[in-house]
Amino acid sequence: MQGDLERVLFDEPAINRRLDELADQISNDYRDRELTVIAILNGSLMFMADLLRRIPLPLKLDCLSVASYHGKAQTSGEVIFRHLALPDVIDRHILILDDILDSGQTLAAIREKLETAKPRNIRICVLLSKKKQRARHVAGDYVGFEIEDEFVVGYGLDFMERYRNLPYIGVLRKELIAQPD
Ligand code: IMP
Ligand code: MG
Repeated sequence: MQGDLERVLFDEPAINRRLDELADQISNDYRDRELTVIAILNGSLMFMADLLRRIPLPLKLDCLSVASYHGKAQTSGEVIFRHLALPDVIDRHILILDDILDSGQTLAAIREKLETAKPRNIRICVLLSKKKQRARHVAGDYVGFEIEDEFVVGYGLDFMERYRNLPYIGVLRKELIAQPD
């Protein structure tokens, strides 16, 4: 799999150091609150597991599964909710965890959906955020790393469901993404 990468962006020690910092910040901000974490599957799996084990607060955890990709390297704009039963959101402090903020369409749709369930507030935590103009206005309240607008895989992030199990994050070689229409 490593041969499919153009370069490694964040290796395991770099990810771990940043997770320590993010977890400290989140633990401090939510120390007197009843936190509900909602992790977006499948991309945030590794991030969720490693981040939450660093947060020593009594929190609730739930997961949502959405799809917006359909195997291409750009977002289709349509966001499909695979599990429609919403977690226990009413009156709670919600922290959404996702792998990456790209066009913003996925997180904007998720935030809108959760807002209908009347949470006390919603914040967004992403491992990666691409520096680009977004189709929807979404800002990460907690961001692991800002990256350039390149297609990355590993540590939960996939291309056509592959590479999620790489323990580091890297840029996928462009010729592997190019597909005939
Ligand atoms: P958005 O709706 O365009 O913000 O896309 C968010 C989703 O697209 C993420 O949760 C990922 O599943 C996927 N995605 C966006 N950029 C990348 C990337 O560089 N690598 C892998 N997945 C990505
Ligand atoms: Mg994906």
